[in-house]
Amino acid sequence: MSGKFKIRRMVEAARFPNVIEYTYFNESNRPAGRWHKEFFKNSNPIILELACGKGEYTNHLAKNNPDRNYIGVDVKGPRIWRGAKTALENDLGNVRFLRIFIDHLQDYFGKDEVDEIWITFPDPFKVKKSKWKKRLTSAKFLEIYRNVLKPGGLIHLKTDSETLFNYTLDVIREQQCSIVRRVDDVYRQAKDDELLSVKTHYEKIHLKKGKTIRYVVFRLV
Ligand SMILES: C[S@@+](CC[C@H](N)C(=O)[O-])C[C@H]1O[C@@H](n2cnc3c(N)ncnc32)[C@H](O)[C@@H]1O
Repeated sequence: MSGKFKIRRMVEAARFPNVIEYTYFNESNRPAGRWHKEFFKNSNPIILELACGKGEYTNHLAKNNPDRNYIGVDVKGPRIWRGAKTALENDLGNVRFLRIFIDHLQDYFGKDEVDEIWITFPDPFKVKKSKWKKRLTSAKFLEIYRNVLKPGGLIHLKTDSETLFNYTLDVIREQQCSIVRRVDDVYRQAKDDELLSVKTHYEKIHLKKGKTIRYVVFRLV
């Protein structure tokens, strides 16, 4: 995809009725606390897919659970374009895409406004230790999620990276969070599990390379 094409998609995505961008807001009109009443116009649970890319989990789960609201969160407009377009084509009224830095999640959601979080194939930041705090399962990010997630709300991680998976298990242990389910090899141990069968864009690339896909779901304390 050329640079010009990416910019065109980003601009187009920003005009979609199901896309919300950080540029729409300032200090006085943040959407925190307004998702149920103003954006979805219902009181159904809100589930986030962080690092959603093209939003495969967002759209799949939304289709299967019309009584729940789904928001795909990513900073890359051209990727969000794909997810938002698919949601519009499939008439998924319970889907929104939010283009923001996840680092600022608590500016966009109020306390306990979120019921569940999915993190799908986040960047593992394997090389430099100084970048570990950018990992979406670092203690820094868990603290951000704690501010918006309901007590007992689940956090799902699906990843191809053994490094990120083991790092996350360490953070879970250090933070005394409770693991609800752990699958060390999704396509060997849980190949008939419908929830884990959704294949994202990056997951397909990793599977082609023969990588093992791992999954853990846990609760914050
Ligand atoms: C490896 S891709 C995975 C995309 C998708 N989940 C998939 O599996 O195809 C990681 C995504 O995380 C997004 N991302 C990483 N850090 C982020 C941050 N701090 N805020 C917003 N998006 C972020 C990137 O823009 C990218 O789209």
